[in-house]
Amino acid sequence: MAEIKTIGVLTSGGDAPGMNAAIRAVTRTALSRGVKVKGIKRGYAGLLAEEIIDLERQNVSDTIQRGGTILGTARCMEFTTEEGQAQGAEICKKHGIDGIVVIGGDGSYRGAQALARHGINTIGIPGTIDLDIACTDYTIGFDTAVNTAMQAIDKVRDTSSSHERCSIIEVMGRNAGYIALWCGIANGAEDILLPETYDYNEQNIINNIIQNRKKGKKHHIIINAEGIGHSTSMARRIEAATGIETRATILGYMQRGGSPTCKDRYYASIMGAYAADILIDGKTNRVVAFKGGEFVDFDIEEALNMTKEIPEYQYKISKVL
Ligand code: ADP
Ligand code: F6P
Repeated sequence: MAEIKTIGVLTSGGDAPGMNAAIRAVTRTALSRGVKVKGIKRGYAGLLAEEIIDLERQNVSDTIQRGGTILGTARCMEFTTEEGQAQGAEICKKHGIDGIVVIGGDGSYRGAQALARHGINTIGIPGTIDLDIACTDYTIGFDTAVNTAMQAIDKVRDTSSSHERCSIIEVMGRNAGYIALWCGIANGAEDILLPETYDYNEQNIINNIIQNRKKGKKHHIIINAEGIGHSTSMARRIEAATGIETRATILGYMQRGGSPTCKDRYYASIMGAYAADILIDGKTNRVVAFKGGEFVDFDIEEALNMTKEIPEYQYKISKVL
């Protein structure tokens, strides 16, 4: 096993609050073990463009509390090709990078897997607000995103109650309903629409609104996941069918920004340190996860083959509450 002298770190896919804490932990853990660190800007796009900088201890100071990613991120189609991946590995070798920590989601892990195939050691860290990585119970950014969304939904609820309106609030999650489920329960929503379970039967929602109004409820909050979308047209149809004023609010990218919560900073710090440690110890083609109350690592292929479903009991109980 060749000795690891220099490692790289990059962030890829959608940004997530806490990514900076992970970059900081990777950097400082590696430096503490006498290993040099290079920051690769703009994910795989920056790797192919050779946007590579040296990271010293002070370069990551004053970053743990910042949202976004100091390295920038990107989605890079070129890296999904064999030529792009081979070129990426060559660039790593040219810059003396023996291994890379990739902070991102499933797509980013595929890129890491490709680099590992080309002889560059890689470790993934789960960074996405969506919580949709099957091998881990926790993904960096989720806690900040749900807290941001929860606070925004509380505010919409205030005005919605004052005007006795119905509100559809759309939260992020193209393929995953975890943000919607958590906010739906935490905000006491009347209806929660998840891409994984939605049956597109709007009549049930309309009946529910009419029933609740008869019982004297002043507001009706529907949390709709981005994956279902069409919140504005849904609001128009619901208003027409119920006669109750209905408004749509799409929270959008505000959910991805902002200073990370304590939980995101803590998990990102431990996962970043863990990733750097196992990379320097010679592991490759692994992803760090938090599973069963512990920080662990899985083979990337094994991790990508795992599946995750909306927990049945939690979804069922959301309807009762
Ligand atoms: P996430 O990492 O959050 O799932 P994406 O799915 O957009 O986000 O993936 C991020 C980037 O990872 C892509 O833009 C691309 O550069 C790289 N990537 C995605 N899929 C693959 C793949 N099959 N092979 C190599 N690289 C990939
Ligand atoms: O990073 C996850 C996520 O925010 C999803 O919730 C959302 O569907 C997607 O990214 C949006 O991506 P983009 O930045 O490309 O619009």
